[in-house]
Amino acid sequence: MLADQYGLPLTTSVLEARDAYVTGVNHTLAATFGASDAFAASVEADPGFALGFVGLARARMYDTDIPGAQKAMATARACATQLTEREAAHLAVFELLLQGRTTEARRAVQDHIANYSRDVLVAQICTNIFGLIGMSGEPGRESLQLAYTTQLLEALGEDWWIMSVHGQALCEVGQLDEAMSMMERSLALNNVNANASHFKAHTLYEQGAGEIGRAYLADWIANYDERSVLHGHLSWHRALWALEQEDEAELWEIYSSSIAPAASHSLPINVLTDAAALLYRAEIAGLDVEPELWSDLSDYASRYFPNPGMSFADIHSALAHAMAGDGDRLAVLAETQSGFAGDLVRPVARAWGAIARQDWTAALQNLTPVMAEHARLGGSRAQRDLLELTYLNILLKSGHADEAHRTIKSRRPIFSQAAPVAGFG
Ligand SMILES: [Fe+2]
Repeated sequence: MLADQYGLPLTTSVLEARDAYVTGVNHTLAATFGASDAFAASVEADPGFALGFVGLARARMYDTDIPGAQKAMATARACATQLTEREAAHLAVFELLLQGRTTEARRAVQDHIANYSRDVLVAQICTNIFGLIGMSGEPGRESLQLAYTTQLLEALGEDWWIMSVHGQALCEVGQLDEAMSMMERSLALNNVNANASHFKAHTLYEQGAGEIGRAYLADWIANYDERSVLHGHLSWHRALWALEQEDEAELWEIYSSSIAPAASHSLPINVLTDAAALLYRAEIAGLDVEPELWSDLSDYASRYFPNPGMSFADIHSALAHAMAGDGDRLAVLAETQSGFAGDLVRPVARAWGAIARQDWTAALQNLTPVMAEHARLGGSRAQRDLLELTYLNILLKSGHADEAHRTIKSRRPIFSQAAPVAGFG
């Protein structure tokens, strides 16, 4: 029996199918372009290879091709006649995920890795910012994420993938030296892993090392295929640093070439959240934002996220609708009862509406209670700086400059000397 790169047996006897499967897994773990093609080549070499079809389904989920993913999963099920116990359980986890049964899927992942901790495609489902723990809406989910990756690290050891996602978890709880050390070890083993370069950039951001970070990412992304899943988001990080370092020309060049809905190849949740956050952070830094950019984004949000439920996306949809002046779309989110953190989406949406009207008192009233627990909304700390900087801006606009300085110093010390907000300083 052939095995994958983690030594797990695969029910295929076709070497070419196994080798292409291994390539597909590596692309998935490293967020590099080519996973769909690799898994497609795998099942072409062995049309009875069930896990090859599961891999293809997973890759198509990342391609936002849900009908294609469902078709691949149906084929996997049809040829799953003589699987090992591990493979059958692996397939069942991905069926739950594809059906959107996220609570059951998360439990199934936990059960699965208790038995098969080296089954990394399954383990990966509960890692990353937009994974099932990150988007659970649970209080303390950053600590839960760290506990989860710690458990995997113990099983996998010196492995480039687990070190990169463990470093991410360390960064998000503020263990920055440990995070950087983990990323450097991961990158030394595999420098093309975008999950590692991404959170090396996050760690530099959290350390306030913007100039180093900007240069690092500009260099790293030059060899990263623009069709890859994290290209748009890494571009967002670059554009944020361009904004902080007052390079407006580069900011808009990166926005139009790699972040805007018409240009990005990223997942819709990245396209929406990165574009909205960047446009608004540019506005509060004092830059002029073309109104069409907001209306384009509002249209994109209503096309890809027509119904509330994905709370982190929802707060960014609400921002786009508010800035585009679409009160009807905004009202749906301001009243939503849906989503893993819908109770926080409502006041944030109302705050965006108040901000658009320049009613700073109402904006403050709505946003203040959210600040203590906005981690439940999902996203990284750098992404939720949208809320931190917005809150700072509201305090300034409503005449509370002293409180603005005290607040940012206690909540986000990296911005205490120089925050990219007009009028702060
Ligand atoms: Fe990021």
